[in-house]
Amino acid sequence: MTALIDGKRLAQDMRGEIKRGVEKFVKERGREIGLAVVLVGENPASQVYVRNKIKACEEVGIKSYAEYLSADAAQDDVENLVKRLADDKNIDGILVQLPLPKHLDAEKILKLIPTAKDVDGFSEENTGKLCMGEDCLVACTPNGVMKMLERYGVETKGKKAVVVGRSNIVGKPMAMLLLNADATVTVCHSKTVNLKEECLRADILVVAIGKAKFVTADMVKDGATVIDIGMNRNEGGKLCGDVDFENVKHKCAYITPVPGGVGPMTITMLMYNTLQAALRR
Ligand code: GUN
Repeated sequence: MTALIDGKRLAQDMRGEIKRGVEKFVKERGREIGLAVVLVGENPASQVYVRNKIKACEEVGIKSYAEYLSADAAQDDVENLVKRLADDKNIDGILVQLPLPKHLDAEKILKLIPTAKDVDGFSEENTGKLCMGEDCLVACTPNGVMKMLERYGVETKGKKAVVVGRSNIVGKPMAMLLLNADATVTVCHSKTVNLKEECLRADILVVAIGKAKFVTADMVKDGATVIDIGMNRNEGGKLCGDVDFENVKHKCAYITPVPGGVGPMTITMLMYNTLQAALRR
């Protein structure tokens, strides 16, 4: 029988827990927790994400500092802003919304975020620590997936996990987290030969490639747990994942829907990371 992993509900529960954590912090340390969100330009999807991040801050009691720069901002302008935020004692976390306009050197800008304020978990130091199995700030989406597996009691130890997608911000950290949780992990990508056979071996199948209905029922083992990180628009403009949900769901022990699965967890994990960053300072 299939059980739906309700990301919306879990995100709400976690936001309640984070809110209590923030309240305790404020009471004990006598100061607020601050998150700076930097948006350069007017990418409509980024505007929605940033708005939702600011809304989530309000919900859990974190003070947000929204910093908007125009699409033609110079490299120096963005760098100086990030440097100022890095030195600001009121700010515990810095997030630069991606993608940045093409004329900017994103790598150089992201390197200016101190490791301790890197609430996206994208820095070399946080990524390296994750590889070493050390305590660190972990990328929000894969960390949210781990919380989902934990809360729904999905065993990872000794299980075969297959991650489809190898991006630095989702696929790679996802594989590392599953490995740290004692799964046997395979990472598949665009050059993988026999992708279907690889997927069919998965007890836990995590898909993050950005192609609607890419994973079909014939690629999924009976009783597998399927995690869909895709965020695509179908022909009708409706949000959909990478998995052919209607046909795949009958085969799964657990599956995440899109919308209402991994998506709501990502911003919640950003709030979680901001609280962690504040607690560590
Ligand atoms: N753009 C899309 N997803 C993300 C994310 O997780 N972090 C940042 N900074 N930008 C993004």
